Amino acid sequence: MEDRCPVVLDPTGDDIHGELGRIRAQGPVTRVELPGGVLAWSITGYESVREALSDRRFSKDPRKHWPAYAADELGPEFPLISWVEMDNMTTAHGSDHSRLRRLVSQAFTPRRVEAMRPRVVEVTKQLLHELEKTPPGEAVDLKARFAHPLPAQVICDLFGVPEEARPRILRGLELDVDTTLTPEEAAANVEQWQRDIQEFVEAKRRSPGDDLTSGLIDAQEAGHGRLTDSEIVGTLNLMLGVGTEPVQNLICNTVRALLTDAEQLAHLREGRVSWAEVMEETLRAEAPVAHLPFRFPVEDVEIGGVTIPRGEPVLIGFAAAGRDPAVHGEDADRFDALRADKEHLSFGYGVYRCIGTSLARLEAETALSELFARFPDLSLAVSPDELRPQGTFIMNGNDALPVRLTAAVATSVG
Ligand code: HEM
Repeated sequence: MEDRCPVVLDPTGDDIHGELGRIRAQGPVTRVELPGGVLAWSITGYESVREALSDRRFSKDPRKHWPAYAADELGPEFPLISWVEMDNMTTAHGSDHSRLRRLVSQAFTPRRVEAMRPRVVEVTKQLLHELEKTPPGEAVDLKARFAHPLPAQVICDLFGVPEEARPRILRGLELDVDTTLTPEEAAANVEQWQRDIQEFVEAKRRSPGDDLTSGLIDAQEAGHGRLTDSEIVGTLNLMLGVGTEPVQNLICNTVRALLTDAEQLAHLREGRVSWAEVMEETLRAEAPVAHLPFRFPVEDVEIGGVTIPRGEPVLIGFAAAGRDPAVHGEDADRFDALRADKEHLSFGYGVYRCIGTSLARLEAETALSELFARFPDLSLAVSPDELRPQGTFIMNGNDALPVRLTAAVATSVG
């Protein structure tokens, strides 16, 4: 299998599941080629993904464990450079990783998240109230008007990002996951974004508040966690991005699944499945984070019947693991909230598992239940094949979700 031609990843993410299925068909651990011609490995079989996520020999630190990066061999045409150059827990290994993770993880425990419920409900209701002003039958983009602003507002509030700085900072984060950017555009975005965040951190230093950014600055000033300036910027980059992008996709992918399958919607409406079960099936069949860079074995690692040599980059196919026929049978690709086993790894596993699981579930369940209660006639405003992908192979979502909230008012004839 190691002699086969690597699958060349499509930067547009036009057919995420098709591509991941083709990769998995070559074996649970397969060679792929990244944009910019960089060779890597993709782990897509459920068992191998779980094994890799729990194996401490897979580091996420490119500085220490990706020799080609350390030797400056990647070249300027490598467009995923922002995924390498971030300075936060997702590019750290061992004790550096636990140090950076500990600084924010306490803020997202189930108990702390439960305390956020009133705010999540309030933001949801405000956004729905705005949507109610839409003339009957007019199409609106549910992603731009609801699924994105809800988690964005919640995470920006938590980190104390001022209203006026939000559009620019959030736009930078969207571009961060866009794998269709040219290397120059990607580099310009990283630079601009770093500047915006640095300015924001400097403003916070001058006038701190009761927010998590001020908490990070306090921890730095008190000498806890040996936090550098670059790590504060990197941590904000991470937290504002992951706090928004995948939650928006969980909401939109669930709405899309229900509005394109009347039987699934009926299961929900008639009480055969709960919102929690529907969301779980979305996480399995439409994992919001699809194909995530990077891990680097610190020594040669045997996994899924192949040996990944030390220092070669690895991507994890979260969206493929949930659809592995070895776990979910021949209909693994089918969205079915009634299926008993919805096992997935879409929040990760092991030391790098998601910190925001409770917050994501709270936001998505609140959003979905309130949305469908408020607009029982919700329908797609375009045919499903007109929905366009987001323009990334890293995330699994659409660039927009046009819906009609209410049926058009029938115009009387004659
Ligand atoms: C449906 C929504 C979400 C999904 C599907 C998701 C998925 C994931 C996955 C797959 C990972 C593991 C990455 C890896 O192993 O390489 C991860 C890590 C992480 N997630 Fe989430 N996430 C979601 C929402 C959130 C939210 C709302 C937050 C904000 C608090 C968050 C914060 C994080 C952080 C900080 C990490 C890095 C953990 C580490 O490196 O130790 N996530 N997430």
